[in-house]
Amino acid sequence: MCIAARLLAPDQRQAETDGHGAAMTLPLSLLDARVPRYTSYPTAPHFHPGVDNLVFERWLRELSPDLPLSLYVHMPFCDTLCWFCGCHTTVINSHAPVVHYLADLFTEIGRVASALGAKRRVSHLHFGGGSPTIMASKDWYMLMEVLRRNFEFVQGAEIAVEIDPRGLTDEAIATLAEIGVTRASIGVQDLDEAVQRSINRIQPFACTQSAVDRLRAAGIRGLNIDLVYGLPQQSEAGLAHTLNQVLTLEPDRLAVFGYAHVPHFKKHQNLIDARTLPDLMARARQFELAQRRIAEAGYQPIGLDHFARSEDGLAIAWREGRLRRNFQGYSDDDASALIGFGASAISALPQGYVQNIAAVAQWRSALRQGALPIARGVALSADDRLRGTAIERLMCNLEVDLAGVAAGYGQTADAFADVLPRLRSLAAQGLVEIDGTTLRVAHEMRAGLRLVCAAFDAYWNEGAVQHAPAV
Ligand SMILES: C[S@@+](CC[C@H](N)C(=O)[O-])C[C@H]1O[C@@H](n2cnc3c(N)ncnc32)[C@H](O)[C@@H]1O
Repeated sequence: MCIAARLLAPDQRQAETDGHGAAMTLPLSLLDARVPRYTSYPTAPHFHPGVDNLVFERWLRELSPDLPLSLYVHMPFCDTLCWFCGCHTTVINSHAPVVHYLADLFTEIGRVASALGAKRRVSHLHFGGGSPTIMASKDWYMLMEVLRRNFEFVQGAEIAVEIDPRGLTDEAIATLAEIGVTRASIGVQDLDEAVQRSINRIQPFACTQSAVDRLRAAGIRGLNIDLVYGLPQQSEAGLAHTLNQVLTLEPDRLAVFGYAHVPHFKKHQNLIDARTLPDLMARARQFELAQRRIAEAGYQPIGLDHFARSEDGLAIAWREGRLRRNFQGYSDDDASALIGFGASAISALPQGYVQNIAAVAQWRSALRQGALPIARGVALSADDRLRGTAIERLMCNLEVDLAGVAAGYGQTADAFADVLPRLRSLAAQGLVEIDGTTLRVAHEMRAGLRLVCAAFDAYWNEGAVQHAPAV
């Protein structure tokens, strides 16, 4: 029985029991719990200013020279405001802020590279935003030249770019191909006109289709499409139509994110009329619809909210148990250190996490004072590593052997004793299966996956409101 069926009132549920006659109740409040997306553990709200630029510099110096690195570059600008957007970005009306930003970004890249010492090998590079595609060709060439001067890109390194297909020119595509981009992640969200109007993002299907065709023709073959459910005015019928159209494009990967409406945190989301948002039950049904339809089209469900064709690297990593969780979602990248550049970017090192200052002006001023622009971070304790590993395995594999995780840290499954009562309660509600020391979340229950992870989270405060509902 799926999540939506479990949410039904008991009289509605009669025909949809679990097959054993025992209709299990999943209180709506459970799925309304505000749970993190666990792109890291501890999660970003628990980073603190005690981990500063000096700590980060020391961590960089300590990194083993043999470790291949992953790099992330943040471009915090867009040329229009999508009202649903939860990312670190601002709207600009001229190109000058991009040029100024890049000058400081080059300083940051050089400073990090000199703290690292020798020229380090890089296996993955991701450009995110905001909209990296706001850069002009000249900007791209300069940025790649600075990155290649400071880092050694391994043969076959993945270079991925988040793409806003609106206004994507042939020249921009040729530039991306020229600089060696291997993967493009295209923002679509929903194709229904009413939804697009209510999020201030008009993007006809023909625009997405043309971007896909032209990227492929230019040799950029790895394509990902982002969809969002739970948007204002969104309906199951509209979403079904969106899915049908998007699936004709045969992307290698799809991500289907639950809309995080956090207007206290992202003020512009107040432009969305909250009365037009689907309720929890509708969200659950929308996600299930997407999940069913995409699986029927032959995609492998991956982790919380991703899907990949069986020959894609992400699906292979899933099958081989090598999938990793990172700030962009899921990755088959096995680099054990990720370095983030640009305002708000997060770095994940073996020692812990650090986040750059989010406001561009302050980020710039830290750089101009000769420092690395760190706002806060967290050094991983032994307990963080243990819990973080269990959470990452669950988020990636939907399954974890607690005894195996604990053994990796010289402990037994008893190390998770405090988690058991919460897990048993979630198991009684059908969200997770406990089999000895192994936990399993069924694919059709993955909308509840973050709740299972939250059982391990020593920092999670149920009252915190910065996260989206579990479903
Ligand atoms: C950083 S955005 C970059 C997309 C690119 N700028 C574009 O316009 O297509 C990456 C993705 O995050 C997702 N996203 C952004 N805000 C979100 C929110 N509030 N809730 C859920 N997903 C969101 C969207 O699917 C979006 O495509």
